[in-house]
Amino acid sequence: MLLTIILPVAALAHSATAACDLALLQNISSAYLATATTGKNALPLADPITYTENLKPATISTGMLTKAIKLSHNRTLHDTTQCATYTELIAPDNTPPYVIGTQIRVNADGKVDKIETLTTTTGDWLFNAKNTLSYSLKENRAPIPEAERLTRDVIKAAGDAYLDLFNNKSVSVPWGSDCERLEGGQHVSPCNVGVPSGVALVNRSKTYLQYFINLPCV
Ligand SMILES: *[C@@H]1O[C@H](CO)[C@@H](O)[C@H](O)[C@H]1NC(C)=O
Ligand SMILES: *[C@@H]1O[C@H](CO)[C@@H](O)[C@H](O)[C@H]1NC(C)=O
Ligand SMILES: *[C@@H]1O[C@H](CO)[C@@H](O)[C@H](O)[C@H]1NC(C)=O
Ligand SMILES: *[C@@H]1O[C@H](CO)[C@@H](O)[C@H](O)[C@H]1NC(C)=O
Repeated sequence: MLLTIILPVAALAHSATAACDLALLQNISSAYLATATTGKNALPLADPITYTENLKPATISTGMLTKAIKLSHNRTLHDTTQCATYTELIAPDNTPPYVIGTQIRVNADGKVDKIETLTTTTGDWLFNAKNTLSYSLKENRAPIPEAERLTRDVIKAAGDAYLDLFNNKSVSVPWGSDCERLEGGQHVSPCNVGVPSGVALVNRSKTYLQYFINLPCV
């Protein structure tokens, strides 16, 4: 299952490092894109490194990073506070088609010490890469003017409320009136309909459901 909401929620429980800046993270996301399109790893990997695919430990040398994927779209968020990147890849014309979300964490030496990737493909829940592409392209991801930016805590609380709602219908989520959700290839609006129930999204500090907050939207 790959969910996208306006606040991308991904992994991270990493302390920020002085070494982390946007230029470093942009290099990392470029290297990840190069890897995804060529199937040859271009990321500077730390040793040891934690690598998971669809939440399970996996092997870099035989896994998704070895596939050369024909991408139609990519988009990365860079979080310099947590020294991490989140990249979405949409590949409807690849065989097989994929929609992939990957978060990468970078250590104080500028090396990647954690990669968690979620891959969806034909047959997965609501999978429709062409729809995902079409809706994703309509999203306005232009930088938010500085004066209009919310704090990290406010953004995190909104993400938490959304995830809490899956297991507690009493939680109040600050939906915007024009809120749209993209679940797999399915577009949902308004956002307060069709949220799953009875799903406890636990261990958010440890799993892929950790926080990814892209404050300046860079
Ligand atoms: C980013 O990559 C460029 C080109 O390889 C390199 O010159 C630059 O030093 C890198 N910057 C950082 C912060 O890693
Ligand atoms: C990633 O997306 C950017 C912006 O749309 C585009 O310029 C770039 O060519 C894409 N890179 C790959 C490897 O597809
Ligand atoms: C459900 O959410 C409501 C509103 O936030 C809260 O008061 C209540 O304690 C929550 N219930 C559980 C079981 O967590
Ligand atoms: C959550 O974390 C605890 C402590 O690490 C672990 O025992 C438990 O199995 C985890 N639960 C899930 C659903 O991953």
